[in-house]
Amino acid sequence: MTLTYSVVLSSVLLAARCHAQQFPAKFKFGAASAAYQVEGGWNADGKGESIWDRLVHTNKDAIEDGSTGDIAADSYHLWREDVEMASEMGLDFYRFSISWPRILPSGLSNNISSAGVAYYNNLIDELLLHGIQPVVTMYHWDLPVKLQDLGGWTNPLISDWFESYAAVLYSLYADRVKTWLTINEPIVICDFSYNGGVYAPGIKEPELAPYLCNKHLMIAHAKAYRLYQRDYKHKYDGRISLANNVLWIEPFEVPRDIELAELGLEHMVGRYAHPIFSKEGGWPKRIEKHMLEYSLKQGYNSSRLPAFTEEEKKLIQGSADFFGFNYYTARQIRPAREGEHGTWFIDGSPELDAMLEVPPGATFGATELIAIVPRGLREMLVYLKNTYGDIEYLITENGYPGWKDMEDHARIDFIRDHLEQLHIAIEEDNVTVSGYTYWSLLDNFEWLGGYGIRFGIYDVDFDDPKRTRTPRLSAKYYACVIDGNSYNVSLECSNSPTTAFSRIPTNGDSVRNCVSILVWMFTVALRFI
Ligand code: NOJ
Repeated sequence: MTLTYSVVLSSVLLAARCHAQQFPAKFKFGAASAAYQVEGGWNADGKGESIWDRLVHTNKDAIEDGSTGDIAADSYHLWREDVEMASEMGLDFYRFSISWPRILPSGLSNNISSAGVAYYNNLIDELLLHGIQPVVTMYHWDLPVKLQDLGGWTNPLISDWFESYAAVLYSLYADRVKTWLTINEPIVICDFSYNGGVYAPGIKEPELAPYLCNKHLMIAHAKAYRLYQRDYKHKYDGRISLANNVLWIEPFEVPRDIELAELGLEHMVGRYAHPIFSKEGGWPKRIEKHMLEYSLKQGYNSSRLPAFTEEEKKLIQGSADFFGFNYYTARQIRPAREGEHGTWFIDGSPELDAMLEVPPGATFGATELIAIVPRGLREMLVYLKNTYGDIEYLITENGYPGWKDMEDHARIDFIRDHLEQLHIAIEEDNVTVSGYTYWSLLDNFEWLGGYGIRFGIYDVDFDDPKRTRTPRLSAKYYACVIDGNSYNVSLECSNSPTTAFSRIPTNGDSVRNCVSILVWMFTVALRFI
């Protein structure tokens, strides 16, 4: 009898564990890409020039391997294959971006390219045909050059240009696209670009440009949001947010750096989240105060961070239906020592007079910029929930920077470890997370890193004019994750040395494993009763 009880007890515990490793029933899995990084066809069929086209064509040192996105993964022609890949993995959604100058070659709405319109119509229709929801980013860094020549994100008129662009997109695609992300990673567009001057538009103007851009971008996002609420929400009931880039920041030394870490999070995450998601609206109060003091100290007679009017605050506040964010990495923050100056590209912040250090235990893939710290994802979710409340969070990107490696166990570990932390955040910290997006569906042009850094779950052969796509082992792992709605898949699923998709799971491997062990245990128990 004692044996029977132990077997029954173990079965119950195992059943609980099996259940515990499952994501909520409505949880969605996706993968992402962005127009400039995958499409190619940089001047095909009347597409206008973007700031990335201009950067790579005019500055041969801009990109590490001297490459361009002129052809990239050639998704402009091979989009059907991309959809097939997404479908064979069983993705619930595919996040891609629309190239502004492909739709509006000059950036303005007086000239709409029919070829551009058709391209995204085809892609959206094909996805839907395969049961995959399109999640559309309106702006993933490829600004039409004409608008850049007029000042780009530093010109306040950009919010009107962006609103007109959004109006065109809604009128074309809102009947089928139910999830929109207005802007991808504002911190890169404003802070990294203008501070470092290395991302397009390649202009180094760290004094005012990042902060002007910050303000105008928030207004542009909000105008696009309000437009949808006014004209489309009642018809199509879609949802809109933006994809914030969140860097998890923790103190280097406790308790000394606790307050600095809070300020760091408000500076790097809050400037793009607080105006939308906080109860009081506007910039984070401490940042506003800090920036004013810092600017006065620097000899300015007002803050470098421009104030919002009350009307602007209201426009922006609440302009999102969920909180979308990309999580890649974490840092520890400490005060700068004498002679040290943070250069902004995640090694420090001159405004905060602080330096950022890699947390102990972090590992790396193909770039030192991304210190891999899976627990940072959970910490970030808890921080966001504590700061902005129990709202819906969607992981819009998370990805492993690897090499051209097909047996990519490191990527499998990366995905599993992050999903595990995500799962803990959902189950133990009660954070509401509706989905996870792996970056990227396929290898692509990794901005300054060119083709040297591979994020794809599918390998792309960039030496082959056909840009042949081949699933990596992680594609199989991810398919099993989706199939079983759990990060804990069978060994066969994650370790098989065979080519991915030699056997696509049909019915939840992880669940099946749990169930078969349970059945076996109950059979044993019955024998002893
Ligand atoms: C986030 C960006 O959105 C994406 O474009 C980029 O490729 C990944 N980070 C990896 O660096």
